[in-house]
Amino acid sequence: MRTILLGAGGQLGIDLARLCRKRGHGLLALRRSQLDITDESATRQRIARYDPDCVINAAAYNQVDQAESDSETAMRVNALAVRNIAVACAEVGAVLVHYSTDYVFSGEKGTPYTETDAPAPRSVYGVSKLAGETFARAHCPSHYVLRVAGVFGPPGRHTKRGNFAEFVLRKCAEGTPLRIVDDRFATPTFGPALAARTLDAVERKIPFGLYHLAGGEAVSWCEFARKIVRLAQRPAEVEPIDGSRSQAKALRPRCAALSNARVEAAGIAKMPSLDAAIAEYLVLRKRERPARP
Ligand SMILES: NC(=O)c1ccc[n+]([C@@H]2O[C@H](COP(=O)([O-])OP(=O)(O)OC[C@H]3O[C@@H](n4cnc5c(N)ncnc54)[C@H](OP(=O)(O)O)[C@@H]3O)[C@@H](O)[C@H]2O)c1
Repeated sequence: MRTILLGAGGQLGIDLARLCRKRGHGLLALRRSQLDITDESATRQRIARYDPDCVINAAAYNQVDQAESDSETAMRVNALAVRNIAVACAEVGAVLVHYSTDYVFSGEKGTPYTETDAPAPRSVYGVSKLAGETFARAHCPSHYVLRVAGVFGPPGRHTKRGNFAEFVLRKCAEGTPLRIVDDRFATPTFGPALAARTLDAVERKIPFGLYHLAGGEAVSWCEFARKIVRLAQRPAEVEPIDGSRSQAKALRPRCAALSNARVEAAGIAKMPSLDAAIAEYLVLRKRERPARP
């Protein structure tokens, strides 16, 4: 399979690139320094010239708070660039894999969200990701739009954006108090397990469409932090705080747990338990080295 990977320098991109190579894909992996996806003509040319079977877009503008004051960049990267990629994929007959987020939901439903639930984003970031997934679905019939949440992959130890697990481990190392919201819930997603299931979906040709492919286990961010501290055997306390008192600029969903029932019904394996995922994360992160710029 000939695959183009966009955003190959992000935490998920690095895991995807490794796995594509291991599974024998012919791979063109492009980091931001090699292709800015907002460069419409360069992106179209790359896709047309390589003539891939599959394009995986792991690039995104993920600065949720910054997006509130920079909606233009959020929309250019998360929405307009995705439209362009989707059109280019349709032109060459390639499958498009694109990632979206639990932040497309308001978080007020009370039970895990399914693919048929109506989105109602509370932030600019959520709006931009919803626009991106809509463009992907509208312009490229052969698509997998995968909604994920709180991604934590071992490459995040060295990537610019990092991840929540690295944030917690850094605070522990610094001896800084950990104060984490205990009234916001999500289904944190282990990067290597997500990468494996993404390629399973493409290689096994499950029906195209929109799927939730998150961690499968809803926890508060405070509980997630406590699990990391416990499994890493760090002598730190995690103090629960009230999310409504948060200073963050962007509003976040209260409980945006995603149900993986649809993707599992299509034959994709269940995600590992959160404890197992964190334990594996802690082993794998020790092997991570900083990637090339
Ligand atoms: N991380 C999470 O908790 C989370 C939660 C929900 C959904 N998701 C989604 O999951 C997917 C993978 O995210 P991730 O966790 O791997 O994020 P990440 O580590 O921040 O990686 C995103 C990558 O995209 C690159 N990028 C940004 N703008 C670009 C542009 N204009 N052209 C090319 N590349 C660009 C970034 O480069 P720079 O680092 O140089 O900016 C970075 O390498 C994304 O679609 C994201 O929205 C992530």
